[in-house]
Amino acid sequence: MGASPQGPAGSQPGAARAVGTNSPPAPAKRLMKTFKTYFLVMLFLFCGCDSSPSPLAQDRIETRAAGKDGWLQGSTHKQIDTIARHLRGNDLAMWEVGYRYGELFWSGSAGNWALAAYQIKKIRLTMELAIQRRPARAPSYANFFEDGLTELNTAIHAKDLDAFDRSFRQLTSACNACHAAEKLEFFRVQKPTSRSAPLGPR
Ligand code: HEC
Repeated sequence: MGASPQGPAGSQPGAARAVGTNSPPAPAKRLMKTFKTYFLVMLFLFCGCDSSPSPLAQDRIETRAAGKDGWLQGSTHKQIDTIARHLRGNDLAMWEVGYRYGELFWSGSAGNWALAAYQIKKIRLTMELAIQRRPARAPSYANFFEDGLTELNTAIHAKDLDAFDRSFRQLTSACNACHAAEKLEFFRVQKPTSRSAPLGPR
């Protein structure tokens, strides 16, 4: 290799073609150049992939609409935020608590202790989940669990109607104490006068 003598360029008509195509001039230098080109192309491709990730994979995962007829739009994070908004904070929880408070009154007053115990359990669960969504209200709820629910639970388990009446009044005060503490005294909880659920006295 490299031993074939080369005539001066253009000395013969065939020689000019030979120089341009298959003669290996300075082979080591040429090899280096090829490697350099190869290296640069690989570097370009590698950096290209790294700095601008293909939008395909990411977009397919994060921006696919979800829910019936795709009502949840945007990235996965945006979709979770939307669901969180729909879960609401404390206000919807209070709506449920208001209903269960009424049912607690009617069931306890009628001596349906199993239903009364059920309502207390659900009031507590509803409030605990509300605390997870709005942790700033946790201390107010802690006071309520202590002042509002403890004696009522005892009365229900003892199936004691007088104790139930007494502790239901105490519960009502505890509801309003929190509303006052939260500067929401315009929500005045009071013993219900009619039953909202289509459930019998017993
Ligand atoms: C953490 C303290 C706290 C306790 C304890 C509490 N509430 Fe509330 N309540 C609130 C807040 C705060 C609101 C206003 C809604 C909101 O912004 O979350 C509210 C609102 C309400 C509403 C109005 C809901 C609406 O939007 O129409 C009712 C009904 C209600 N509470 C009932 C009760 C009853 C019944 C109890 C007791 C069994 C109770 N609450 C205990 C904090 C409390």
